[in-house]
Amino acid sequence: MSELVALHTIRQRAPLARPRIAVVLGSGWSDLTDHVQEAVCIPYTELDGFPKATVAGHSGMLWVGQIGANQVAVMSGRKHGYETGEVDAMKTPLRVLQRLGCAILVQTNAAGSLRTDMPPQSLMVLSDHINMSQRSPLVGEGGSERFVSMVDAYDPALRAHARHIALQRGITLHEGVYAWAFGPQFETPAEIRMFKQLGADAVGMSTVPETILARHAGLRVLALSLITNMGAGLSTEQLSHAHTLAQAQSVRGVASGLLADIIGQIELPLEMPEP
Ligand code: HPA
Repeated sequence: MSELVALHTIRQRAPLARPRIAVVLGSGWSDLTDHVQEAVCIPYTELDGFPKATVAGHSGMLWVGQIGANQVAVMSGRKHGYETGEVDAMKTPLRVLQRLGCAILVQTNAAGSLRTDMPPQSLMVLSDHINMSQRSPLVGEGGSERFVSMVDAYDPALRAHARHIALQRGITLHEGVYAWAFGPQFETPAEIRMFKQLGADAVGMSTVPETILARHAGLRVLALSLITNMGAGLSTEQLSHAHTLAQAQSVRGVASGLLADIIGQIELPLEMPEP
């Protein structure tokens, strides 16, 4: 049972750690680890059932430590559906972190914008998502819990908290709907026009499977996007992974600083309705 083996390894390496907040860092967000104090770093290769990250910019390391008032377990590097076709690669890591005591999952990603008022280098908190692929990491699960509600999947109280911290810091934080495109190819301009018409504000290739897994496990979710480009056809820029990483480069410090404040000032337990 790889969950228990990985849990044992983390408890051995960080015996005093009692993290309540799990964090998944996507492209452009890895500087958050600069804010983790008293950090114990464990490579995924030492953690049974954790993915071997393969995408440039995702290092594959678990950081257990403190950010502000809260103990955290930060996953630097995630596995994407487009790497293998499987969408449940984060199932074991998230269940391990839940067993470790995490009650909240904070996710980050890089995304393309569908809105002209949200240009590259903007930040967006997710209000909801559209699962374009209709793939689920819960396929094969038993029990009635698998029919998990996705209403308020992105916790309203955590979103309000994020907006409050951004306002305090004078940082514009957009709010919008994230469409999960399976990838790895970027979208066609026609697809981008369709996503827009369906009500999406941003598009990316991650996050949604983890949100589904987290809601199934009873974790409350907050997710932030760093906008790295306009969606295909909405600008003349050429889309490439290198380009999205380069765009992320110039705002990563601001984004990670904001995220550290958001995470560090979450007050636990939060007064929120039961999922
Ligand atoms: N599309 C999909 N995923 C992305 C994009 C995009 O335009 N930008 C960053 N991740």
